[in-house]
Amino acid sequence: MNLAHSQIGRNAVPAEPGLAIEVRNLVKAFYDVSGDRITLAAADVNFTVRRGEFVCIVGPSGCGKTTVLRILAGLEQLLSGEVRIDSTVPPAMVFQEASVLPWLTVAQNVAFPLSLKGVSRQKQRERVDELLQLTGLTEFADARPHQLSGGMKQRVSVARALVDDRDVLLMDEPFGALDEQTRFTLQQELLSIWERTGKTVVFITHSVDEALTLADRVLVMSPRPGTIIADLAVPFERPRDVVELRRDKRFWDLTYEVWRLLATSPER
Ligand SMILES: Nc1ncnc2c1ncn2[C@@H]1O[C@H](COP(=O)(O)OP(=O)(O)OP(=O)(O)O)[C@@H](O)[C@H]1O
Ligand SMILES: [Mg+2]
Repeated sequence: MNLAHSQIGRNAVPAEPGLAIEVRNLVKAFYDVSGDRITLAAADVNFTVRRGEFVCIVGPSGCGKTTVLRILAGLEQLLSGEVRIDSTVPPAMVFQEASVLPWLTVAQNVAFPLSLKGVSRQKQRERVDELLQLTGLTEFADARPHQLSGGMKQRVSVARALVDDRDVLLMDEPFGALDEQTRFTLQQELLSIWERTGKTVVFITHSVDEALTLADRVLVMSPRPGTIIADLAVPFERPRDVVELRRDKRFWDLTYEVWRLLATSPER
């Protein structure tokens, strides 16, 4: 099926077997209200993600990372190119700001996607219990968001993204606003959830450190209009320990390599 030009091919099988996501020659432009001014947000973005793979994207501010993720989520149209996602349902998305509904309890927030789908109360309860346990929120099931810390709210967002078991999880700097220690804890939790669930994850971060901690592969983007300038394999064995990783010389060699790419990549 040819999905070229402003089509997102959900449930369109990528060309190669085993691929969950295929992005070819993606171009995205934004027009101002008058239509006079064009911002080219992404230019010729190409990458693939295998099923069950954890891929991180790093790149300078404004290079088009969120735009690419929003296109994958079906929240934004592309100008040209092809996007194929091997799934019948849209991906789940976790945004930079914890997006919890303040009038609902933690459990109700997590259950929200299920209640929209009309899943029975009993099934909702079972699934929510599982997710609360997985994200360490069981004790706070009946709390309201204002009673939670930033890290806990972000855990609610992660639990909600996982609750209806989508194949693909898109995360846009989900831990960006958190202190480093909380971030480490959530990275470790996310890794263990991912190891258990086998989801395909695309995770955007500003932190080279975070990308190397989490990913199987790190994609590096150029300044706007963004394109992928490097695709680096991260060799650390799984399961990973986010602290122990820092004893590995390869961690620092890769950190240097990514920073070199970010620092020397020219404005386009
Ligand atoms: N809705 C929009 N309307 C117009 N321009 C937009 C819109 N969304 C993004 N842009 C522009 O597209 C470019 C890429 O934005 P995007 O949010 O994808 O960057 P980013 O890489 O996620 O940056 P950051 O790391 O700061 O989050 C920017 O120049 C931005 O101004
Ligand atoms: Mg962004």
